[in-house]
Amino acid sequence: MFWRKRSRHQDGVPLREGPFIYDWFKLRDLPQIARMEAKYFPEPYSFWTLLGLILRPSTYYLVIRQKNMVVAYIGFRLFEKAAHTISTCVHHDFRRRGLARKLQLVANRVAINRGARWFTGEVRVSNLAQLEHLKQMGWLQIGRCPCFFKDGEDIIVVWKWL
Ligand SMILES: CC(C)(COP(=O)(O)OP(=O)(O)OC[C@H]1O[C@@H](n2cnc3c(N)ncnc32)[C@H](O)[C@@H]1OP(=O)(O)O)[C@@H](O)C(=O)NCCC(=O)NCCS
Repeated sequence: MFWRKRSRHQDGVPLREGPFIYDWFKLRDLPQIARMEAKYFPEPYSFWTLLGLILRPSTYYLVIRQKNMVVAYIGFRLFEKAAHTISTCVHHDFRRRGLARKLQLVANRVAINRGARWFTGEVRVSNLAQLEHLKQMGWLQIGRCPCFFKDGEDIIVVWKWL
């Protein structure tokens, strides 16, 4: 399948760590990702929007699975030297175990291997968990954009050299 063709040995994916497998997204993961979006994001991507995103050649999704359950995912797009986060999420029952940190490191490696020089994204000002997580990984907060989301919330633009 097309997303498997992107797999390269140097990405180190799939990777097993304890009960978890870090892997490329597979189509069967999509309903679970859509459900996590709906549960954990104020303005979630729908199943069909996600499918449209995933079908773009510039899009990459990585997941962490425990058996067949998706416990975390990250989606990002590559624009030449820039990697841009679409969204990242860890299932509530699996938080504060370092999964977001480890998944971001895998995403960094995938992006670097395809020529990216920096990662960037937008985080709601209220999302202290994500802001702290990225700060701990050396991401900078480079600006604030007012009324970024439909509900009017501002975002912090975050950025990291790879
Ligand atoms: C933000 C999120 C991805 C973090 O996932 P996680 O797997 O729990 O994060 P990690 O365990 O890797 O934590 C890494 C560091 O981030 C920080 N952090 C994570 N959750 C935090 C919280 N609730 N409050 C404060 N700091 C937090 C801590 O510094 C943590 O290190 P520590 O546990 O050693 O103190 C997760 O809370 C989530 O999925 N939230 C809902 C979706 C979302 O908001 N996604 C981001 C926007 S795209």
